[in-house]
Amino acid sequence: MRHEGVVQMASAADNKWQKDAADQNFDYMFKLLIIGNSSVGKTSFLFRYADDSFTSAFVSTVGIDFKVKTVFRNDKRVKLQIWDTAGQERYRTITTAYYRGAMGFILMYDVTNEESFQAVQDWSTQIKTYSWDNAQVILVGNKCDMEDERVVSVDRGKQLSDQLGLEFFETSAKENINVKQTFERLVDIICDKMSESLDSDPTIVSNSQTGRKLTQEPQPSNSGCAC
Ligand code: GTP
Ligand code: MG
Repeated sequence: MRHEGVVQMASAADNKWQKDAADQNFDYMFKLLIIGNSSVGKTSFLFRYADDSFTSAFVSTVGIDFKVKTVFRNDKRVKLQIWDTAGQERYRTITTAYYRGAMGFILMYDVTNEESFQAVQDWSTQIKTYSWDNAQVILVGNKCDMEDERVVSVDRGKQLSDQLGLEFFETSAKENINVKQTFERLVDIICDKMSESLDSDPTIVSNSQTGRKLTQEPQPSNSGCAC
């Protein structure tokens, strides 16, 4: 696909986001990104979570798109804006531009694909390079339903997550294993991190006190979560 085509698609996603952001019916908004090699199952994972659907057809993502899902944490309406990025290298410039302002990342590999596991370290470096310092990350080994074709053991996944200081889940978008749990945990650790910031700096005013909403851009100096 020509570069202009990709830019147009990314700009369509941006327009969709602007419309979506106009809906103020939430207490907090968290921007999340799903990243990882092509074909690990990022789009499938998002469709399973947002629409409870799955298809075995592979349509590789072009550029970037997002879905919205609202969850409730301690009586607060938390709107998740979940960006699904293309894993293919040629879209890297476009996709990394969206890292800024993300509060959480799902870094995915495929347990049946060694190369996707080897690439985790690089993806982690990309997060450090392009995102906000306090962004929270969960490592996910997807396709755990394909036991016969597994090449990355649970132990290796766990070891790598320990080494990188990340939490870890094995999941299956196909069989709906640990999909909801991954998102819920990510929301919880983002909330914990925000409460920590509040505790460590008493001059920070909670959003719930000011009535201000969290928006796409995290505002570490004045954001708080009552989750
Ligand atoms: P890009 O958009 O190119 O970055 O790929 P992606 O990571 O979005 O992969 P996608 O979700 O399109 O899935 C790739 C293929 O893996 C598709 O054929 C899916 O049906 C299949 N797939 C995704 N998740 C699972 C899973 O949990 N189990 C099994 N068995 N297949 C899966
Ligand atoms: Mg995709």
